[in-house]
Amino acid sequence: MDAPEFRTIIEPFRIHSVEPLRMTTPEQRRAAVRSAGYNLFQVHAQDVIVDLLTDSGTGAMSRDQWAALQHGDESYAGSPSYFIFRDAVRELFPFEHVIPTHQGRAAERILFSVLGGAGKVVPNNTHFDTTRANVEYTGALALDLVCGAALDAISTYAFKGDMDLEALEALLQERGDDVPLVMMTITNNSGGGQPVSLANLHAVRDICDRHGKPLFLDACRFAENAWFIREYEPGHADREVPDIVREIAGLADGMTMSAKKDPMGNIGGWLAMDDDDLARRCRDLLVLTEGFPTYGGLAGRDLEALAQGLREVVHHDYLRYRIRSTAYLGESLRDAGIPVVTPIGGHAVYIDARAMLPGIPPLQYPGQSLAVALYEAGGVRTCEIGTAMFGRQPDGSEVPAARDLVRLAIPRRTYTQSHMDYVIEACRHVAAHADRLTGYRIVEEPPTLRHFTAVFEPVA
Ligand code: F0G
Repeated sequence: MDAPEFRTIIEPFRIHSVEPLRMTTPEQRRAAVRSAGYNLFQVHAQDVIVDLLTDSGTGAMSRDQWAALQHGDESYAGSPSYFIFRDAVRELFPFEHVIPTHQGRAAERILFSVLGGAGKVVPNNTHFDTTRANVEYTGALALDLVCGAALDAISTYAFKGDMDLEALEALLQERGDDVPLVMMTITNNSGGGQPVSLANLHAVRDICDRHGKPLFLDACRFAENAWFIREYEPGHADREVPDIVREIAGLADGMTMSAKKDPMGNIGGWLAMDDDDLARRCRDLLVLTEGFPTYGGLAGRDLEALAQGLREVVHHDYLRYRIRSTAYLGESLRDAGIPVVTPIGGHAVYIDARAMLPGIPPLQYPGQSLAVALYEAGGVRTCEIGTAMFGRQPDGSEVPAARDLVRLAIPRRTYTQSHMDYVIEACRHVAAHADRLTGYRIVEEPPTLRHFTAVFEPVA
C-alpha cells in the first residue's frame, strides 16, 4: 500500500482542559451591544460565543507552559526565571540586552520616550495602533511606508508587509536628521497580517546602514512571518524556522515585543537591543513604572511560561497548522463571495468592509457596522481596523483611513475547525443581508486610542 497523503491538517494537540462557552440568542446580543454603545470592546466576554477580537494573550497555553509556571521564582532581583527567559529570547534574537516589560506597548512607551520627541519622524511599514499612539504621544510623527502592493486588492504578491524602499530612501534623504530609528512590523498587523520578505528586510537594513540609522523590529508575530518566508520566498524551503528568525534578528539593532502573540503568553513583552547606552536609558525608565530589570512588570512564573512558549512556537507542525487554519477561514469566506484581504495573513482574516458595504461611507464606519452585525448574528466578536480606529488625526480632524477592514483574529490553539465553520456561517448570513446594514456615528470619544471606549450610535 502507498503511504497515504492526507489533505486534512489536524490540530497538532489534544484538548486537555476545556472552558465552557455560554450560548446566547440574537435578542440577548442585540441588547448587549446596544448597552455597550455599539463598541465591541465594551461587550462582556461572557456574552461572546467565538471571540476573534484579538489573538493577543487569548491563546491556550500548553501542558509544558503550565508546568513551567510552577518553576517560576519570584525573587525581586536576579530571579533564575529571568535568566531562563533571557536565554530563550536570545536563542532566537541574540541581542545583548533583554528587558522584560508587562506587554508590548510598555516596551514601545519606553523606547519612544527615549528616542521620540517633537519634530522627529518614525517610519514603519505600518504602525500598530499602540505603536502609533506611543510615537505620537512624544510629539513625533508616525509614518506608514508600506509597499504599494499592500493596498492593491488584486495583487497576489506574497509579502504585502514589505516596506516601500523608495519612500524610505526619500524620507531619509529629506529628513534624515529627524529620524531616530526605522521600525519594521513582522507580520504587518494593521496592514492585513501580511508578512515581510527577508529580501525586503535586507534592503531596509542596507538603507539604514547608508544613513546610519538603527533598525528595530516590532516582532510580535515573528514565527508566523518566518513560516511565510520558508513557504513563499525562493531559497528558504529547506531551512528551519529558528534559523530564519535568527537571520531576521541579525538584521536589526533591537526589537519591541508583545509576548501575548507568538511567544504564546497570556501577558508579557520585552524590549531588546545591542546599544549599551540606549539600554541604560531604557532600564532607567523601566524601573520607574514597570519594575526591576529582571522582572519588568511580570511574575517570574510568566517569564518561564514565555520561555517555553518561545520553544513551542517555532515547531513546524504547529506553524503549518496555524497558517493553514487561518487560510481555511479566509479561503472559505472568499469562496462565499466575501471580499477579504489576500493573500490571507498569518494570525487573522481581514474582511474589506468598505467593499462589502459600498452604501456606507467611510466616515460612517462600515467596518464598525459589519463588526456589530457579526456580533448580533452569531455572537462572533471581531475588531474594526479602519476609520473608527485610525480616522481621527492628531489635530482633531477626521479623515477616512486607507481602508476599512474588519479583522477576525484567531487565538492560538484555542478554537477548532467547527468553530471556524460556525464563524463562516455567521459571515455568510450577514453578507446575505448586507444591504440592510446602516452606518454609525461617534457620540463620545477620548482623545487617543478612541476605538477602545468610543460610544457609537446607528445612523437612522
Ligand atoms: N505591535 C503589534 C504589531 C501588535 O499587534 C500589538 C498588539 C502591539 C504592538 C502591542 O502589544 O498589546 O502587548 O501592548 N496587538 C494586539 C492586537 C492588541 O489585537 O492586534 P500589547
